[in-house]
Amino acid sequence: MRDLFDRIIENKGPLGKWASIAEGYFVFPKLEGPISNRMKFQGKDVITWSVNDYLGLANLPEVIEEDAEAARTYGAAYPMGARMMSGHTDYHEQLQNELADFSQKEAAYLLNFGYQGIMSAIDALVSKDDIIVYDVDCHACIIDGVRLHMGKRFTFKHNDIESLEKNLERATKLAEQQNGGILVISEGVFGMRGEQGKLKEIVELKKKFNFRLLVDDAHGFGTLGKTGAGAGEEQGIQDDIDVYFATFAKSLAGIGAFLSADKEIIDYLKYNLRSQMFAKSLPMIYVKGALKRLHMLRTQPELKNKLWENVNALQNGLKENGFDIGNTSSCVTPVYLNGTIPEAMALVKDLRENYGIFCSIVVYPVIPKGLILLRLIPTATHTLQDVEETLVAFSKIRERLESGVYKRLSASVKAD
Ligand SMILES: Cc1ncc(COP(=O)(O)O)c(C=O)c1O
Repeated sequence: MRDLFDRIIENKGPLGKWASIAEGYFVFPKLEGPISNRMKFQGKDVITWSVNDYLGLANLPEVIEEDAEAARTYGAAYPMGARMMSGHTDYHEQLQNELADFSQKEAAYLLNFGYQGIMSAIDALVSKDDIIVYDVDCHACIIDGVRLHMGKRFTFKHNDIESLEKNLERATKLAEQQNGGILVISEGVFGMRGEQGKLKEIVELKKKFNFRLLVDDAHGFGTLGKTGAGAGEEQGIQDDIDVYFATFAKSLAGIGAFLSADKEIIDYLKYNLRSQMFAKSLPMIYVKGALKRLHMLRTQPELKNKLWENVNALQNGLKENGFDIGNTSSCVTPVYLNGTIPEAMALVKDLRENYGIFCSIVVYPVIPKGLILLRLIPTATHTLQDVEETLVAFSKIRERLESGVYKRLSASVKAD
């Protein structure tokens, strides 16, 4: 027998093995200064393309004042206790009602964190005789939620409706034998590549199969649809999403999340979401803060318009300059390049040190080996000048990548 920690010490995991050369720079970097289009990284001014503050709310004086006022009035603790016991307030209820209304559903329920919340929602929605069918590219929180399921689960190829259909056939046979139901899970926007989930086509399959649809719309909420209600509104099928989920961690620039659905379903979830029933209630700072932000989202469409002006300028500029930005149909802007992980590191270092551009870098195992994904998140705080500078810098680093500069610079870099 070996000591439990032997394996952990020997094998740090696919990302952990890069820690000694990556930590503090490529992973766990410290961005300083007010959250905005330009922040400081290691003392240098950088154009920041890596914060999900889509609508630019995080640093607006009236938003910060609302947070500060809630902190002055309630402190960071109130209310104490779980919602069911002693942590419920009128403001929690008001926020739920406003979120239900905004997301075009009968009822909503607040979650302390999106990650744990959606895991519990998946856990609560299915029993062992039910079958889950989910997009293979779903976010880690969905994968972890599916891990809690005691019954069968099938994945379908990313955004591939034929593959979904095949899996629904398998799932239907099994569900009939077991007298179970089927839960299909997709995302409104896939956060790495920016593709919207094919919700309209998925919903079409309801004519042929009996299933319920859960959509994680973390990146669609506030950014897509006429009113900002998300990918379902954008695709005209919000009513056919049976359980809608979004987090406050992106467009609402806060912490917390919510589920919305028919009242009967929310009433059930309220009493069965384990990570909410047995955890402290969302503090008032975040509840009052989310009310303020939601109000701004609803009444200031110019925020979303400005966001999209920047998204369009950046995405069109990249395409015109011959960059591969995949099939994004949202604000998330991926730029695909070919190279190894060490080359990616040298390239990103060049971008940050010599061009003042800070964006996230995504590599294997999140995407296939040999690909580098630079992920840019435009926000309403960016300017067309930021876009211009970024396009120039990207053209330069592509030249250097293709001519082998980063290969030479990274020749000695090895993982632990
Ligand atoms: C698609 C998606 N779902 C869920 C989450 C988790 O939300 P939270 O940050 O509120 O825990 C995220 C957060 O990054 C996300 O991108």
